[in-house]
Amino acid sequence: MSDVLSEQKRYYAERAPEYDDWWYRRGRYEFEPGEKEPWDADVAEAEAALEAFGPCGLVLELAAGTGIWTRKLVRLADQVVAVDANAETLALNTQEADLVQADVFEWRPAERFDLVFFSFWLSHVPEERFDQFWSVVRSALLPGGRVFLVDSGPLGDASNDERQVRQLADGREFTIIKRYWSPAQLATRMRPLGFELDVRVTKNRHFLYGGGSAT
Ligand SMILES: C[S@@+](CC[C@H](N)C(=O)[O-])C[C@H]1O[C@@H](n2cnc3c(N)ncnc32)[C@H](O)[C@@H]1O
Repeated sequence: MSDVLSEQKRYYAERAPEYDDWWYRRGRYEFEPGEKEPWDADVAEAEAALEAFGPCGLVLELAAGTGIWTRKLVRLADQVVAVDANAETLALNTQEADLVQADVFEWRPAERFDLVFFSFWLSHVPEERFDQFWSVVRSALLPGGRVFLVDSGPLGDASNDERQVRQLADGREFTIIKRYWSPAQLATRMRPLGFELDVRVTKNRHFLYGGGSAT
């Protein structure tokens, strides 16, 4: 497992310069006519849900990447600490956040936060590290602190084969973890860990989003 997690880190380090093309649907990620509008509507739905959730105070963003969501969080919260394993992605993130280069499977928070946020990260957490990851989240929360996540829509089944082969623009291939959670599956998996999450799927099923708190 540690081999695939190292490969996953390397994949995102190498992908850093092209990562935003996926989100903004540019270059090789450009949509066919008619596909962009439903995507944009789902992006707007997830962004509006985050705003309505009301990130405030001190926010921790895990696996923050190039900062697509960090930039929104710094507008909404008092202070954002953004953690990512790779210097290559953090170099593209906003300097308005406190950037920390660390592996979330090894890092332990030195302070407590009002909100822990992660986008397109939970689907990269293997079952073997799932409980450990959520114990890090729990240890990062202030009493009454909350969690908000955004991720891929339920295209498959989280209990299926976790591994996926991804290709960079230059053709290099990397094996990573990718698990497609449905809201019901995730809620069921989270309950014994002591988190009550209200997670939904966007109208056009591109994304999963929602939040909650530790019980
Ligand atoms: C799919 S990207 C998501 C980036 C960002 N959250 C977003 O939504 O744009 C996954 C991110 O996880 C980071 N990452 C991979 N393995 C990690 C680890 N073990 N600890 C911390 N970050 C990691 C990668 O560098 C990458 O930035």
